[in-house]
Amino acid sequence: MYTSVYSTPTVTLVGGDEMPVVGFGTWDLSGQAVTDSVRTALQAGYEHIDTAEGYENETEVREAITDHDREDLFLTTKVLPKHLNYNAVIESCENSLNRLGTDYVDLYLVHWPNPAISIRETMDAMDTLHERGMIRNVGVCNFSSHQLRAAQHVSDVPVATNQVEFHPWLPQTDLRAYCDREDIALIAAAPLGRTRVLADDVIRDIADARARSPAQVVLRWELEKGAATIPKSSSSEHIGENVDLFGWELTDEEIARIDDIEHEERIYWMTDMSDDTYGIPE
Ligand SMILES: NC(=O)c1ccc[n+]([C@@H]2O[C@H](COP(=O)([O-])OP(=O)(O)OC[C@H]3O[C@@H](n4cnc5c(N)ncnc54)[C@H](OP(=O)(O)O)[C@@H]3O)[C@@H](O)[C@H]2O)c1
Repeated sequence: MYTSVYSTPTVTLVGGDEMPVVGFGTWDLSGQAVTDSVRTALQAGYEHIDTAEGYENETEVREAITDHDREDLFLTTKVLPKHLNYNAVIESCENSLNRLGTDYVDLYLVHWPNPAISIRETMDAMDTLHERGMIRNVGVCNFSSHQLRAAQHVSDVPVATNQVEFHPWLPQTDLRAYCDREDIALIAAAPLGRTRVLADDVIRDIADARARSPAQVVLRWELEKGAATIPKSSSSEHIGENVDLFGWELTDEEIARIDDIEHEERIYWMTDMSDDTYGIPE
């Protein structure tokens, strides 16, 4: 029988690989801060690291993971929307692998859909990378269910994940239902709503009653909803707290109270279609 190499709970991706349900986000971390934070995260028990070529920190992530057994780590990176043409996807992936100091990533994601480039071309390149063993799983970020449907339609390799903003103030009910039906794992980006959702009265109330932090209540709710989650932190206290999500759970009543929060707020939006991100000149 197959046993997972990971110690933390995992979700089985459509191709059969396991993905630890808690990962460490690295957006907006740079220099020594990213190396130190990723090292702290690995020591705290994270087995899944999320980076991107657009974060410009893959070299620093490499510093932190260099002494870690590669097979014990689930590593994700992403290709920028301006690099979604066939040759550019291949080149971006090669560059990311060089910066990360590895022969493969476990998950390679389209960072944002780009309406100026054919998704067929992008997914053809993903298939080539998959066949070459450079990427073990293919996914996307920030795709609607319609965009997912199109990507699935033209792709030879299954779309394993959709990484989208998800937290109690943006419950993504319809998109989650679609992903469930299609066996696409949803990964919660900005899972703490960049701290804003931690101020919610219901979250604070449950946290106080349970002697847990608001962040733990929010992250645990995301797991209860079947998502994976990738909180980011540069504080060792928060890094430890954010992975201490197992061996306890929210009650049905607590989950229902969070489900019933009426406040809805999106924390991040698609960046402007600048040359730097999309390759579209003004
Ligand atoms: N695919 C995409 O387009 C996309 C978009 C957004 C995000 N993401 C991914 O998702 C990851 C997480 O999202 P994010 O970085 O935007 O924001 P986030 O994880 O929702 O929030 C990070 C903020 O929360 C604070 N924080 C962390 N743990 C805390 C705790 N236990 N208590 C109180 N505050 C806490 C951090 O500050 P401290 O440093 O002080 O802890 C930081 O200010 C990113 O790093 C990235 O990997 C992907």
